[in-house]
Amino acid sequence: MTISSLFLCYYWILVVISWLGWISAQPLVPALFIFGDSIVDAGNNNNLETLVKANFAPYGRDFVKHKPTGRFCNGKLASDFTAENLGFTSYPLPYLSKQARGKNLLLGANFASASSGYDDTTAKIYNTISLSKQVDFYKSFQKKLVGMVGNSNTSSIINGSIHFVSSGSSDFVQNYYINPLLYKKYTTDQFSDILLESYTNFVQELHKMGARNIGVTTLPPLGCVPAVITIFGDDTNSCVENINKAALSFNDKLNSTSQILQARLSSLNLVVLDIYQPLHDLVTKPMDYGFFEARKACCGTGLLETSFLCNSKSPGTCKNASEYVFWDGFHPTEAANKILSDDLLAAGISLIS
Ligand SMILES: *[C@@H]1O[C@H](CO)[C@@H](O)[C@H](O)[C@H]1NC(C)=O
Ligand SMILES: *[C@@H]1O[C@H](CO)[C@@H](O)[C@H](O)[C@H]1NC(C)=O
Ligand SMILES: *[C@@H]1O[C@H](CO)[C@@H](O)[C@H](O)[C@H]1NC(C)=O
Ligand SMILES: *[C@@H]1O[C@H](CO)[C@@H](O)[C@H](O)[C@H]1NC(C)=O
Repeated sequence: MTISSLFLCYYWILVVISWLGWISAQPLVPALFIFGDSIVDAGNNNNLETLVKANFAPYGRDFVKHKPTGRFCNGKLASDFTAENLGFTSYPLPYLSKQARGKNLLLGANFASASSGYDDTTAKIYNTISLSKQVDFYKSFQKKLVGMVGNSNTSSIINGSIHFVSSGSSDFVQNYYINPLLYKKYTTDQFSDILLESYTNFVQELHKMGARNIGVTTLPPLGCVPAVITIFGDDTNSCVENINKAALSFNDKLNSTSQILQARLSSLNLVVLDIYQPLHDLVTKPMDYGFFEARKACCGTGLLETSFLCNSKSPGTCKNASEYVFWDGFHPTEAANKILSDDLLAAGISLIS
């Protein structure tokens, strides 16, 4: 298939989905549940005693009300665009927020927490919500739902809904690579196997709780993230190849593990959503996608840590974030997220039907 026919195909999928959403005038699935790390955290960390937060300017400056929400972005996350693509007119609320109660929970919830990972010790280091704790919260969510709509309605909401998971980046970048106790003891391959054991437990647990549609993102090209190039790169300013290789190898294992789970668990629809290649394309060929800068982040110097350096006093925060692939040292801009979400949608089409 040529590139242009591939684009045309994506385009038609998008058109058909918007059209389905339009004629039904209601979301394509009953609810959306989100798990994972800062790629999808919509503000749970605001409510925690942790340094890993994004609830201050200039985070959120291009979001709906131009205010910080706790999203690690200038605007919308890829998962926000996914919610829109599915026909939702609001985003699943952070489960720890005050608004996440009563009827507001009927369309789903967001359990994600920045600086958490498949390995629960990653969240422990930063005092954030581990993935197993996120599952506990999902259990208490389900109890509340049963209280509101009863058992059988709850089962049909859960089994028809999409569960979206994005995790693993923090396990590598904020744990493994900076922790000699880990990187001296395990190769990246061995560490990946440990993470995938947790992933397996996580999927089995969700399945036991009634989830039937699960989309899991791959690791992004971690070696191309500005902060990673600065901290772990040589002086060439290009992507750190051994870290990208580790991410690719994790992604292969994620794929094969998922195929095994899919075969083993009854009526499970488990889809691996690749964000590695789309983001790698943005970073290596930014001009092709209308970006001017892929090395420096818009906020902060782009040369150091996330969150701590991107704040209202950051020198030289860029005027137009749409020209940048990265918003801070770790996280894509809304403009990049929009492109990633189109890829997610095309890859995740089977989760809807
Ligand atoms: C449960 O679903 C049924 C059928 O869809 C509906 O009639 C009923 O009102 C729902 N119950 C509650 C408590 O929402
Ligand atoms: C979902 O749950 C409802 C209610 O228990 C059931 O009728 C329906 O067959 C289930 N659908 C799937 C796809 O499992
Ligand atoms: C997973 O593996 C299958 C079969 O080997 C392949 O077709 C598919 O593209 C892979 N998916 C991802 C997201 O890498
Ligand atoms: C920001 O940059 C984007 C991408 O180059 C461009 O389309 C848009 O017009 C710019 N916006 C402003 C306000 O300059």
